[in-house]
Amino acid sequence: MEREHPLVLKLKAFQKEASLELEHTEQIQGLQELKVKFLGKKGPVTEIMKGLGKLDVPERAAVGQVANQVKEQLQQALQQKLEKLEIQSLSEALAKDSFDVTLPGLPPTRGSKHPITQTLAEVELIFLGLGFKSYQGPQIETDYYNFEALNIPAHHPARDMQDTFYLENSQYLLRTHTSPVQIRAMEKDGVPIRMIAPGAVYRHDHDVTHTPMFHQLEGLWVDENITFAHLKGVLTLFVQRVFGDQTPVRFRPSFFPFTEPSAEMDIGCVLCQQQGCRVCKQSGWLEIMGCGMVDPAVFTHVGVDAERYTGFAFGMGIERIAMLKLGIPDIRLFFENDLRFLQQF
Ligand code: PHE
Repeated sequence: MEREHPLVLKLKAFQKEASLELEHTEQIQGLQELKVKFLGKKGPVTEIMKGLGKLDVPERAAVGQVANQVKEQLQQALQQKLEKLEIQSLSEALAKDSFDVTLPGLPPTRGSKHPITQTLAEVELIFLGLGFKSYQGPQIETDYYNFEALNIPAHHPARDMQDTFYLENSQYLLRTHTSPVQIRAMEKDGVPIRMIAPGAVYRHDHDVTHTPMFHQLEGLWVDENITFAHLKGVLTLFVQRVFGDQTPVRFRPSFFPFTEPSAEMDIGCVLCQQQGCRVCKQSGWLEIMGCGMVDPAVFTHVGVDAERYTGFAFGMGIERIAMLKLGIPDIRLFFENDLRFLQQF
């Protein structure tokens, strides 16, 4: 076999070396440098082509042909590598930055009203429908509004430190019931008045049926000729709206310093249909609120003529209504903020 010209050998060796170098390049910027190095004016291929004139004709043809082949092959390889690296970097960028706009969105989780808020709103709406107007009073109260104006004397057990949270070093306390709002409403707007007052109240108490904070809804209707029959009518209607038309009710004599006569209102046990169960302690009845005719002593405190006006008042625990309505056995569940509990309502 004819020996190859040294320049041809040189070209082939260079081609091998260049191909290898190209193979190991992974940066687009590096390709431009390689192009200069391989095929530029000072590159070996150009050098050899420039010197072709000095060779004999047959050698010139042989070397020139190989030089052209090497040049073309390297040009092609450079171009292919460039395309490959461009596609690669594009798909990397896509994988990193893009998102699929056709994917379904994540639904935002919707909040819902707390069962106590729901119950309070439901109860409030019933009284608003009967022409009662809603009042708000402060949760930090004075002894006067919480006790004295409500005819609760200094020695009354409700004033005991066991029941009332007093604010340190001050004459203020956390209201133990919503009844002080009766006083504030009558002071502000006088009588006749038909008002409710929903809101948080506080007592030093903690067990299955008591939390230190809970909610009450107060009611007061004062006008000429208001009687106990009005009290029974309004409260019976209320119970039927909340617990159903057939719910039995009864009024038991009781005592509150700010009403006379006073009563506890009971409803037939909604859990056992009055058959007797653990919740109603086998009695078939559940106590749901205190009520009574406004004591004349209360009217005196707010300057209302007790000879001309009479009225009835009531106060109910909203947690208790919610527990009976929703069948919840432990009041503390309302305030633990466990979503597994809250999401059921
Ligand atoms: N304030 C009383 C309580 O908290 C409830 C009540 C209100 C009773 C109005 C009679 C009239 O127990």
